[in-house]
Amino acid sequence: MKPYTIALIPGDGIGKNVTEAGWQVLQAAAKRGGFALEDTRFPWSCAYYLETGAMMPPDGIEILRKFDAVYLGAVGWPAKVADSISLHGLLLPIRKGFAQYANIRPHRLLPGVQGPLRSDGFDILCIRENTEGEYSGAGGRIHSGTANEVAIETAIFTRAGVERILRFGFEQARTRRKQLASVTKSNAQKHSMVFWDEVTREVAKDYPDVEVSHYHIDAMAARMVLAPESLDVIVASNLFGDILTDIGAAIQGGLGYAASANINPDRSAPSMFEPVHGSAPDIAHLGVANPIAAIWSGAMMLGHLGERQAAAEVMSAIESATARGIGTVAGKDSTEAITQAVLAGLS
Ligand code: NAD
Ligand code: IPM
Ligand code: MN
Repeated sequence: MKPYTIALIPGDGIGKNVTEAGWQVLQAAAKRGGFALEDTRFPWSCAYYLETGAMMPPDGIEILRKFDAVYLGAVGWPAKVADSISLHGLLLPIRKGFAQYANIRPHRLLPGVQGPLRSDGFDILCIRENTEGEYSGAGGRIHSGTANEVAIETAIFTRAGVERILRFGFEQARTRRKQLASVTKSNAQKHSMVFWDEVTREVAKDYPDVEVSHYHIDAMAARMVLAPESLDVIVASNLFGDILTDIGAAIQGGLGYAASANINPDRSAPSMFEPVHGSAPDIAHLGVANPIAAIWSGAMMLGHLGERQAAAEVMSAIESATARGIGTVAGKDSTEAITQAVLAGLS
């Protein structure tokens, strides 16, 4: 059988450790499932930048295009390379270049994990617009370094872009509890966010079976902490979704548990799977990075490739490890110990 071809980009810091862990688990799942995953590894990272002057080669996007999926760790080494260079040289161009417009981030508590909230009965799917909005990159600076300096960063919302992410969210809601919360800030931002609200109302007409709620971002931030069980699917713009999903990670016990999939729903280019967290330079050499977020992201990759049973088996293996108390307390178990515990569930 033809193997699935995966472009593996470990990146920086703990990205290297967690993708290594995830890859071992994915290989075990493939073996059980009777299919093959073939990795091609790319050293593109801040270290690569320091050597070559670029985060990836000029034809990097074209090189990745022929793969079935991209599996990425994390990008960033702010002590050596400015984040504005490293992220705009690798991660963000892949999301935009492959029209991975739907960033899916599930937030729920794994068995055995004690979150910071009293509430444990939440199951949220955050759908973040991933190619435009506040991350469009439109803007510039003039009169740099003078007292008259001006910096402009313009958010761009297109009808096509807003409509497609909302439709994607409604489709997801249909497979779940049929509730969609659209997040804006239309009380303050009277152009783009009012537009988003209008498009939400238009698209909602095609999904009469889905109950729609509108929230402002500030109120949603509070709701995710105070009443997360009241939420099902959340749809938000690029920046709002970025911020809300770190809250989502926090309420599920920490960034070590938060998985993410950058999906090109048309399948016209590869999708990319990576944890929500970054390269965590503060713990990069300690061997204690939690690989669960990366492994869960790998399970999402298997699901996207059509290997649903293998994806479910990886999730069960994660859950049986955490239910036994492994990987449930930050810093207690090593990356290696958590990986072995998950692998044990797949043997
Ligand atoms: P971060 O997510 O790397 O770390 C935030 C905090 O969470 C740190 O204290 C870290 O130790 C902890 N943490 C993160 N992942 C963990 C894990 N798996 N296990 C245990 N603890 C974990 O965010 P940051 O510190 O703001 O950013 C560090 C670098 O990563 C920056 O260069 C940033 O731009 C970059 N970044 C990259 C991505 C990405 O590639 N997708 C995402 C976020 C941040
Ligand atoms: C994420 C990260 C990225 C984002 C950064 C590193 C550019 O925070 O994937 O959540 O903001 O999208
Ligand atoms: Mn983020």
